[in-house]
Amino acid sequence: MKVLVLNGPNLSRLDLRDSAKYGSMDFAALSAYITQCGAELDLQTDIRQSDDEATLIGWLHEAADSQTPVIFNPAAFTHYSYAIRDAAEMLKAPLIEVHLSNPLAREEFRHTSVISGVAKGTIAGFGPDSYRLALIALSKLLN
Ligand code: DQA
Repeated sequence: MKVLVLNGPNLSRLDLRDSAKYGSMDFAALSAYITQCGAELDLQTDIRQSDDEATLIGWLHEAADSQTPVIFNPAAFTHYSYAIRDAAEMLKAPLIEVHLSNPLAREEFRHTSVISGVAKGTIAGFGPDSYRLALIALSKLLN
């Protein structure tokens, strides 16, 4: 089974971001970890990252049309992109929202997620393991 793993703005530059919040893996290492975790669950992960809202929306449309499940870290778009929320709402297969950090333990503007209401569930605060836990949850949902 194929899973689309979408990542929003600035996640390609994890090596330059605050490691106390985001851990020490760069995006290439995170992608390799997600690929490995997916393979262990018989899930084929298609991992993508964009800083561009329109590109992320296009990928969500693609997932809706192909009924592909999605694991999504919308990064800062989590907190304000109604356009991404509307695109996510059209998905037919489950979407799981993930975050490396725990936004609820951070600044107040991060306490709102406009995506959570259209997600099957949210996993946050476990670093790269947030993606692994999302893959486990997805594999249970799909089986
Ligand atoms: C993030 C949390 C967001 O608040 C932030 O804007 C990010 C990353 C996370 O994975 O912890 O860029 O989604």
